[in-house]
Amino acid sequence: MCGIVGYTGSKEAYPIIIKGLKRLEYRGYDSTGVALLNHGLKVYKKKGKVAELEDALVGQDLHANIGIGHTRWATHGEPSDRNAHPHTSSSGKLAMIHNGIIENYTKLKNELIKNGYFFHSDTDTEVLLNFIEDIKINNNCSLEEAIRVALKRVVGAYVILMIDADDPETIIAARKGSPLVIGIGKGEHFLGSDASPMLEYTKEVVYVNDYELAIVKPGELILKNLGNEKITPFVQKLDIELAAIEKGGYDHFMLKEINEQPDTIFDCLRGRLDADKGTITMAGVGNNIEKFCTASRIIIIACGTSWHAGLVAEYIIEELCRIPVEVEYASEFRYRNPVVHPGDVIVAISQSGETADTLVAIEKAKEKGAFIFGIVNVVGSSIARTSHAGAYTHAGPEIGVASTKTFTAQLAVLTMVALKIAKEKATINEERYMHLLKELHDTPDKVREVLKLSGHIKSLAKKYKDARDFLYLGRGYNFPVALEGALKLKEISYIHAEGYPAAEMKHGPIALVDESLPVVFVATKDSYHEKVVSNMQEIKARKGKVVSVITEGDEMSVSLSNDVMIVPAADEIVAPMLSVVPLQLLAYYIGVLKGCDVDKPRNLAKSVTVE
Ligand code: F6R
Repeated sequence: MCGIVGYTGSKEAYPIIIKGLKRLEYRGYDSTGVALLNHGLKVYKKKGKVAELEDALVGQDLHANIGIGHTRWATHGEPSDRNAHPHTSSSGKLAMIHNGIIENYTKLKNELIKNGYFFHSDTDTEVLLNFIEDIKINNNCSLEEAIRVALKRVVGAYVILMIDADDPETIIAARKGSPLVIGIGKGEHFLGSDASPMLEYTKEVVYVNDYELAIVKPGELILKNLGNEKITPFVQKLDIELAAIEKGGYDHFMLKEINEQPDTIFDCLRGRLDADKGTITMAGVGNNIEKFCTASRIIIIACGTSWHAGLVAEYIIEELCRIPVEVEYASEFRYRNPVVHPGDVIVAISQSGETADTLVAIEKAKEKGAFIFGIVNVVGSSIARTSHAGAYTHAGPEIGVASTKTFTAQLAVLTMVALKIAKEKATINEERYMHLLKELHDTPDKVREVLKLSGHIKSLAKKYKDARDFLYLGRGYNFPVALEGALKLKEISYIHAEGYPAAEMKHGPIALVDESLPVVFVATKDSYHEKVVSNMQEIKARKGKVVSVITEGDEMSVSLSNDVMIVPAADEIVAPMLSVVPLQLLAYYIGVLKGCDVDKPRNLAKSVTVE
């Protein structure tokens, strides 16, 4: 994980870097650092968030036209001043920032220690830096050549940015497995983990590929492979506006993103779904429809919230398309020896498109001949590029670390994919198909209705915020929603919460129920509803506090619940896009009331680029 920023040009580098790091804090925020070149190398770093370093540097002379900066999510070495990046080489001339993990760092470190090197941090980064410097000195070669030689011996994932006090205009960058974007300005270049640090300066960017090295000067960008051959940079136009990554009047990005959902679901459907004509246009599915229709199996791989979206899709695809679906945690799938056949379709779901576990799982499935379909939010991200085909969720930048709007956008895409396959396979009749298209079309407006519950949910948050534990229960399509509700509460408020299939509760978790336990039922009207109502009764009989998300008009559930959050009626296939929204709001308001940093919960990062 970690966020990296670099600048070389005629502007003041420090403010650009600091602003860029603040935008990248979603990637990690346990320490921050900046290295500047101005008549020598100056490094400033500190445990804590970017604003803390900024405060500590007020009044310093930070003038420089070139610099690199880093916001860290600790892997090797606790969050501390000395483990913060940038690191400085033994000679004091080179500085490096790094996003990723060098797996063979212990071996390299031992070799260097034997050669007389000392280390000031516990990081793998400092090892890589000195390894490069050692090669530079011993081979009497350029920094660029030393990096190339070193990277051929390195095992792991990295984006590195380096500056050299003896070459005060150049940043050298290299990538394998972690993202790197270079923005092209007039006589200046910007580097970042994503494009957000450069949005107000340029719309022209180059996404650097694995095993590429970039030599970046104010007026020149040279890309090379590790064999020292030049590569022509592929310049792309960004279509993100600055406003999309600002809070727009909301207290937190999370609240803004929850409230954006009517628009993001609409954007996701726009240009694809025509409910009147009965068409779904998705080139990635359409061009590969044969593969989907003849698939012996669909394997969905994802992590966290994206995995929950995959679980909902399992119900939808099996119901509508009659294709067996398996939903796998990417991290588990990749480490066992999974049985994957060339006829299998892999659907990889990821907001960031950079999740290391998902990326490696994709590579593993690819090696076995499977067709990979990526459902990704971040345009141009690694998963988007490595998939054979795919569909973007078009939810716009998600800055809050907890996923909200991208979950519902993933569900919208997955539902359209399922409907398109079902139509082609004729596993759905025309009436149901047209009905579901209309239901999808109506979803943004219904989500808008659900958002009107905000004030009511805030009052529920006040009532339940001091609970020590929460149980979330649901069945069928709403079971993954219960998991997602519990995950949101845990990560945002640090309250222990568990999601369970409602019927499974009686096989163990029911032992937890007493008068102090809020049990959140996701109980909208669907084919499982009567059974869920029985489960509510079981909780009520044991004096648990029943808080339920229900469909309007469901008087039975009202009578069984201590509190309700009422959503509009919807077909069970699209209902999760509605029923998850009150749970996002409940987690948000409880987190705020408990004084938590909801946009940047402790220990988390938005883009998990370590395995
Ligand atoms: C939870 C959350 C994480 C991510 C997970 C996968 O709110 O955001 O659980 O869903 O890290 O990330 P992506 O979707 O970027 O692959």
